[in-house]
Amino acid sequence: MSSALADQRQRPLRDLRISVIDRCNFRCPYCMPVERFGGPSAFMPRSDWLAPAEIERVARAFVALGVGKLRLTGGEPLLRADLPEIIERLARISGVEDLALTSNGALLSRQAEALRRSGLQRLTISLDALDPATFKRMSGGQGDVAEVLEGVAAAERAGFARLKFNCVVQRGMNEDEVLPLVERFRGTPHVLRFVEYMDVGTCNRWSRADVVASAELLQRIAARWPLQAVGRAQRGEVAERYRFDDGQGEVGFISSVSAPFCSDCTRARLSADGELFTCLFAARGLPLRPLLTGDDAALGAAIAERWRARSDRYSELRAEREREAAGRIEMFRMGG
Ligand code: GTP
Ligand code: 5AD
Ligand code: SF4
Ligand code: SF4
Repeated sequence: MSSALADQRQRPLRDLRISVIDRCNFRCPYCMPVERFGGPSAFMPRSDWLAPAEIERVARAFVALGVGKLRLTGGEPLLRADLPEIIERLARISGVEDLALTSNGALLSRQAEALRRSGLQRLTISLDALDPATFKRMSGGQGDVAEVLEGVAAAERAGFARLKFNCVVQRGMNEDEVLPLVERFRGTPHVLRFVEYMDVGTCNRWSRADVVASAELLQRIAARWPLQAVGRAQRGEVAERYRFDDGQGEVGFISSVSAPFCSDCTRARLSADGELFTCLFAARGLPLRPLLTGDDAALGAAIAERWRARSDRYSELRAEREREAAGRIEMFRMGG
């Protein structure tokens, strides 16, 4: 029975995040720093990308196992020319309750309408700054905030009524943008979320000192516009929500460093070349492409087996390590 599928920590499989491309037109320092990703050689060859029909087949297997939420990601998904076809195929799978996409927004003004027509339900846009110079720096010299804001307007016109915005805050880089961003989206139907800078991958030279904890941001924002906690909209949601006392909407905080949410993590990830990962911080995935030559039962069984074996909780372990480290006794006291 698909409803019984749970991992080692009793977490069901509910969400599938599908990366359709590993390339990006930005070079955000926290994700794809320009000094490490100068040329095209760092990326997988196009011939490795799953075709739209293969993505659909894999998604159907996940839906049969209990997944109801699909999110398309990248890299930058709008760089993939056949994105509308991928969306159309996913939108018609029965059992898909939610079909969303995360984009940096740079190419959105030209594509918003087509995305909507293909059946995309929700859109999340990364937006780390409003100030053009800071935005440029946060996108590794590649992005133009005016273009992204044109994309936002195009998305609104296309019928994406309630957008989400993600802002990754890095100490000393875009802290000053927090209040202007809040001001910009207060009073709109859109929801701005601040994301704690994470130690994903191997390239961003993450340092704990560069993380601006959500509690600090909350304090700064609430000092200007009083806020009330409203909790999470549903189990497994990554953002904690806060509503403005004056009725001007809400903001969210994604605190995977200061308050990890692994115990509710129901997300699987599929890379553009068809590997299944059960954690954002995983070192190894399960290649699903070889299974696409077989039947649906074998594909479903392999995914279920991997999910059942899952015990990932990287962010919780990071937090536990930090707590232990903070409690360590000095060597000079213990004796060398
Ligand atoms: P909805 O709630 O469906 O709107 O989506 P979401 O909030 O999951 O969407 P989004 O992809 O925008 O997630 C926001 C950010 O949260 C991501 O870009 C990551 O930085 C972080 N995040 C999402 N999922 C995970 C996760 O499983 N683990 C960790 N550590 N961080 C995550
Ligand atoms: N820390 C936190 N979030 C990150 N993202 C990418 N890299 C990081 C990181 N190091 C997330 C951001 C961005 C989305 C595409 O991926 O939320 O908006
Ligand atoms: Fe990474 Fe997104 Fe920035 Fe591209 S836009 S470098 S995928 S965070
Ligand atoms: Fe899920 Fe891994 Fe993120 Fe924890 S660190 S919430 S297990 S993806």
